[in-house]
Amino acid sequence: MDNKKINFIPNKTHFLLDSGDPEEYDEIGKLAKVRGSEIWGSTTNPSLIAKKLSSENKRLTTKEAFKLQKQIVMQIVQIVPGPVSAEVYADHTTSSKNMIKQGQEISTWHERVVVKLPTTIEGFKARTELRKKGICTNNTLVFSQQQIFAICLHEQLIQKKYGPTNNIYPPFISPFVGRLDDIGQNGMQLVDNGMQIKEHFKTYLSKLPFSIWMLEASVRSIDHIKLGILAKSELITAPAKLYKEWFALSNKEQESAPDKINSTLRELEYWQAPSEINGIDSLDKLFEAITTNRLNVLHELTNQGIDKFVADWKNILS
Ligand code: E4P
Repeated sequence: MDNKKINFIPNKTHFLLDSGDPEEYDEIGKLAKVRGSEIWGSTTNPSLIAKKLSSENKRLTTKEAFKLQKQIVMQIVQIVPGPVSAEVYADHTTSSKNMIKQGQEISTWHERVVVKLPTTIEGFKARTELRKKGICTNNTLVFSQQQIFAICLHEQLIQKKYGPTNNIYPPFISPFVGRLDDIGQNGMQLVDNGMQIKEHFKTYLSKLPFSIWMLEASVRSIDHIKLGILAKSELITAPAKLYKEWFALSNKEQESAPDKINSTLRELEYWQAPSEINGIDSLDKLFEAITTNRLNVLHELTNQGIDKFVADWKNILS
């Protein structure tokens, strides 16, 4: 990865806009520029794309909806200089084969388009094939440290087996902070602990240069932004409404410590992988561990997230 070529400044948190509406990219991009900042990239998901398409009040066939999704993503690519995530369509019955097919197609749209995959067992199988082919992926719907650990380990083993993959960006991990807060858990601690897990790989587990980016998602408050910057998350994605608040703050206010310590949220203790999990040294062993739940990549909120994306997507179909 050539940081200069992709305009990535190491040790700085880069802002992405969480939206499927190209007009919002123009609007928020301008606000950012006035403040000497930048909307570097984008995240979309089936709900955000469906929201944009439903504003046109038309029912669509599946084919039309996918075609329009591509059009929207390509419009966004023209506006932002960095990565734009587009998600594969997946319900609970979607096979990895199907996700691979969609992912390969999405990756041809543009070199800056990143393929978002659900963090499920089928999603991991699809990840193997897509990463092998050098396609940049974004693991979405991440709610646990075991999921983060499994993504890091998977990436490490892919590189060990197939050599460094040739992407313009490293792969991303998207912990969903706000949805964890919603159920009373401290979502920001998943980002903090996830950064520590990444460090653990870099320092102890990887013999190869190890690069993977944290993308703090499901961001709901100014404090989430401040805490993400303090955690040194490489990327943060937030909705337009929140950036309007953020860019209206003075530099001093942006740099001041988060003021609301929400003590009602349950603490998330750092998850230390047991030695037999730390010692996994092949993809086969990793898949054995995740399919038997010795390394648990399942999460109820991941399932609920998939259900919501499917329901929102189906809402726009005829
Ligand atoms: C981005 O990649 C996510 O899909 C998004 O941040 C989810 O946000 P929400 O929990 O507000 O829907």
